[in-house]
Amino acid sequence: MINSKLPKVFYGGDYNPEQWDKDTWNEDTRMFKLAGIDTATINVFSWALNQPDENTYNFEWLDEIIDNLYRNGIFICLATSTGAHPAWMATKYPDVLRVDFEGRKHKFGMRHNSCPNSPTYRKYARRLAGKLAERYKDHPALVVWHVSNEFGGSCYCDNCAQAFRDWLIDRYKSLENLNSAWTTSFWGHTFTDWSQIVPPNALSEHFAPNRTNFQSISLDYARFNSDSLLACYLDEYEEIKKYTPDIPVTTNLMGAYKPLDYFKWANYLDVVSWDNYPAADTPVSLTAMRHDLMRGLKDGLPFMLMEQTPSQQNWQAYNSLKRPGVMRLWSYQAIARGADSSLFFQLRRSVGACEKYHGAVIEHAGHENTRVFRECAQLGRELQQLGDKFLDARVESRVGIVFDWDNWWAIEYSSGPTIDLKYVDEVHKYYQALYDLNIQTDLIGVDTDLSKYDIVIAPVLYMVKPGYASRLEKFVENGGTFLTTFFSGIVNETDKVTLGGYPGELRSLLGIWVEEIDALFPDQQNRIVMKQALDGLQGEYSCNLLCDLLNTEGAEVIAEYGTDFYQGRPVVTKNSFGQGHAWYVASSPDQDFLKGLMGHLAASRQIEPVLQTPNGVEVTRRTRDGRSFLFILNHNGQPETINLGNIQGVELISNKQVSKLLEIPAKGVLIVAHD
Ligand code: GLA
Ligand code: ZN
Repeated sequence: MINSKLPKVFYGGDYNPEQWDKDTWNEDTRMFKLAGIDTATINVFSWALNQPDENTYNFEWLDEIIDNLYRNGIFICLATSTGAHPAWMATKYPDVLRVDFEGRKHKFGMRHNSCPNSPTYRKYARRLAGKLAERYKDHPALVVWHVSNEFGGSCYCDNCAQAFRDWLIDRYKSLENLNSAWTTSFWGHTFTDWSQIVPPNALSEHFAPNRTNFQSISLDYARFNSDSLLACYLDEYEEIKKYTPDIPVTTNLMGAYKPLDYFKWANYLDVVSWDNYPAADTPVSLTAMRHDLMRGLKDGLPFMLMEQTPSQQNWQAYNSLKRPGVMRLWSYQAIARGADSSLFFQLRRSVGACEKYHGAVIEHAGHENTRVFRECAQLGRELQQLGDKFLDARVESRVGIVFDWDNWWAIEYSSGPTIDLKYVDEVHKYYQALYDLNIQTDLIGVDTDLSKYDIVIAPVLYMVKPGYASRLEKFVENGGTFLTTFFSGIVNETDKVTLGGYPGELRSLLGIWVEEIDALFPDQQNRIVMKQALDGLQGEYSCNLLCDLLNTEGAEVIAEYGTDFYQGRPVVTKNSFGQGHAWYVASSPDQDFLKGLMGHLAASRQIEPVLQTPNGVEVTRRTRDGRSFLFILNHNGQPETINLGNIQGVELISNKQVSKLLEIPAKGVLIVAHD
C-alpha cells in the first residue's frame, strides 16, 4: 500500500491554494468532499512564499492549509516546491540559472530552471526539503512526499562543465581510457588535459540537438545530466528520510521521457509516480505502454498516477476536451495497469498565467454544476466504493520487452544509417502487437531478472552493455524465447562498434551475421515473404526503414526479402540455442506481420490472451492472494459484448454477479473479480 493511512485508490491531485483567498479555500474543501477527493498535492510551486529571502522561512500558510484540508478528510501529498527557484535567488546568485544548449545564459523565468550543479540551488533546495520534513514529520495528513516537480532539461554552464569532468574522471580514471572510449583519434580530438573537455552542445560537437559528431561524448553527457538531476533529487530525499523514514518519497516522472534514465532513478523512489498527458490522437496502446514502463521501473510494484487532466491540457497545439466518459476510462486504464492512485492536475483552474486554460475539477465557473465536475464526482464515488479491493494487486506477465535509456540515446545520436529510426516507435510496434492480442507484457530494463519470463523481446538492441549478451544466452539456453531486430548488437556502452560482423556479441545466440544495412526512403518498402506458413503468418507482408543484409550461420530462415537486389536473402530467422530459440527480424515489419509473429511466439509458449475481446476493448488482469481482477475497458464509441468463457465473478462497480456474455457500454469499464 502506498500509505496505509489511506487504504484506497488515492483520489484528488495538484492544488494551489496559494493562488486563492480563504473563502475560496472553504469553498474548495466543500467541493472536494462532494467529488470524493481525499488527496491534495500541495506546495508544488511555492518556494518564493516559503522562503521570501535568503534568511526568512515562512510556513504558516502551509500549516493552515494542511490543517484545514486534514480537518476535511483530505490527505496530503507534500511537494517540496523546488521545481522553480525564487526571483531573489536568481538575482543574487546567478549560478542557479541555466546555460542552454545554444550556450545562452538564462535570466529569471520559467520553471524547472535551476542548474543541477549550482552550489546555491543545491544548498537551498536541500535545506528547504529538510525544513519541511522537520516541520511536518508528525502531521497525520502526510501520506507521500513529492520532491520538486518533473525533473528535466539540461544545463551547459561552467559549473556543469566542471562537474562533467569530475564525473568522467570517476568513470574513466585516466585520459587514455577516455580517449580510447571516445575514439578521439578521429578528427584529432585527443585530449591531453581534463580541462580541455567541454560539454557537447551547439557551441562544440553538435550540429543539432540530436546530431553530434561524437556520439560517445554526447552519450556520456546525457548520462551525466540524468545523474546530475538525480543528485538533486537525492539531496532532498536524504533530508526527508532523516525525519520521516517511513513516509514514501517520490517525484513525478513523465513516462517515456528521454532525458532521464528512469530505471536508474527508480532505485531511489519509494513509489514510482508519473504524469499522463496523452493527446486526443495518442494511440491507447501507447498510453498503455507508458503505464507498463512506469510499472516496470520497480519490477511491477504498484505506481501512482500523479497527474492527468480532468478535461483538457493547455500546452498542446490543439487542446481537445476529453469526451464524456474518457477521463473515467483513462483513469481506470492507469489502475488496470498497476496504478493505486488517480490524481489530477489541477483541482482548481488558475485565474492567470499559462495554465488558466488547463482543465480542472473546479472550472472557472467555480461551482459543481459542470460536466467535468459531475464526471469527477462519479469517479470519486466509485473509488470510495471500491476501497482497498484490489490495492497492491500485481499485473503478472510472461512476456518482457526490453527498454533501455542508454540505448535510446545512442540510437538517436547515431549519424546514419537513417534519421527516421525512433526507438520508442519501434518498441511500441512490438508492444502494440501484444496489446492487440490481449497478452500482458512488462517493460523491463537491462538489469531486470529474465528468469521469470518466457519471451523477451529487445527491439533495436543497438547497444549491448557488458555481460548482457551472456545473460541473454543463458536465458535462451534455459528454454527462453528471445527476439531482437535490425540494428542490434552494433556497439558497446561507449558507442564503439563491436568488430567482426553485426550483431556483434549477439552473433552466436542468433546464428547469423549481418554484412550491410540498407536505409529506405520514407516512401520505399520491401517485402517479407514467408518461406513456410506459421500459424497466423503466411504469404507476404511489407517492411520499411532499415533492411539488414544478413548471412545465416546456423539459424533457420523463416522469411526472405521480396524485392531489390537482396531479394531472396533472409529477413526473419530463428536459431535454436540450448533449449530455447532466438529470433531475428532484419527490418521494420508492418503491424499484421508483427501481430502474427507475436501470436505465434505466445502460442508456442502456451501464453493465452487474458481474454478474447472485440477490437478496441482493452483487458488486463491484476492479481492478489490468488484472486483475479479483470479490468475491461471499452475504448470504442459503441457498446460491445464480452465473452467471459468459464469465468464467474462479481463486477465490482455494479456489484453484480457476472458470467458468460456481458455487455460493456461505449467508453465503459467493468472490473470483474473472481477466484
Ligand atoms: C505538468 C506539471 C504540472 C502542470 C501540468 C500541465 O505535468 O507537473 O505542474 O504544468 O504539466 O499539464
Ligand atoms: Zn549548469
